[in-house]
Amino acid sequence: SSSPTPSAQAVLNPAPATQARKHASHKGSHGDVAVIGGAPGMAGAAVLAARAALHGGAGRVYVGLLDPGAPLLDALQPELMLRRPETLLNQLDGMTVVCGCGGGEAVGTLLPELLSQASRLVLDADALNAVAKDPALRMLLETRGQSGGALTTVLTPHPLEAARLLNTDVHGVQTDRLTAAQMIADRWGCTVVLKGSGTVISTPGAVPRINPTGNGRLATAGTGDVLAGLIGARLVRDTTAFDAACYAVYTHGWVADNWPPRQTLTAGELARALDA
Ligand code: APR
Ligand code: MG
Repeated sequence: SSSPTPSAQAVLNPAPATQARKHASHKGSHGDVAVIGGAPGMAGAAVLAARAALHGGAGRVYVGLLDPGAPLLDALQPELMLRRPETLLNQLDGMTVVCGCGGGEAVGTLLPELLSQASRLVLDADALNAVAKDPALRMLLETRGQSGGALTTVLTPHPLEAARLLNTDVHGVQTDRLTAAQMIADRWGCTVVLKGSGTVISTPGAVPRINPTGNGRLATAGTGDVLAGLIGARLVRDTTAFDAACYAVYTHGWVADNWPPRQTLTAGELARALDA
């Protein structure tokens, strides 16, 4: 007798943690990532995502900080190019954009331009909240989904952010996480990472995946930003957004599972260990 069609599959160890870079390559070959976020008091969220993108293998990483008083150097990670968001909006060509990351309400004002211009886009946190609230942004997101793959979008909601997108509550999302993730993916034609214990990765027309790695040590502020940055870096390296999301989610959890038991896991240390 044949076994029933599975309604979900586990993410299998998707690729070796480190991949040799082509000898004949330069920083432009490995992708430019721009992280947009960091409203006043939340600059750290954007910087964490940017560090994760750097350790995830991006060739160049820019950060557009919405806080006008934020410093334009990360002294502990001087490789990051900190700019004002307006500056980055003028150089979106070929850039992978990670948006949200402590962006607050202000991030919504940049979204019309990002949704219509960024060829690869990761939306997290406040960027998702802005989309949930604003029908015009939802239309732009839908248009991206109809671009026949020219414009790639990954949404990374935690359960409350997913509930806002679906106009339901957290209970409604958590009682059927597979359906919730698939509904968001199908509605906007994008890849969805529904976070939490047993993160679900869904995309239209594919069997969804459930991630087997990760644990409660990830329940600390900033780990979501780190995941968004890593997905941004992987969008350039992997063939599809679905593969990029699966790889990033698996690796993010794998690092937490292999962290020394008596050592605290912070989001910053997680970002630095992604290439381990
Ligand atoms: N098992 C596996 N993975 C987990 C677990 C767990 N028990 N707990 C958390 N994670 C993972 C999630 O799957 C996700 O990848 O950690 C990450 C947490 O991401 P977010 O929920 O986006 O959290 P983050 O934004 O980093 O920080 C939490 O967000 O909503 C606010 O008020 C909230 O201050 C809090 C902040
Ligand atoms: Mg978050």
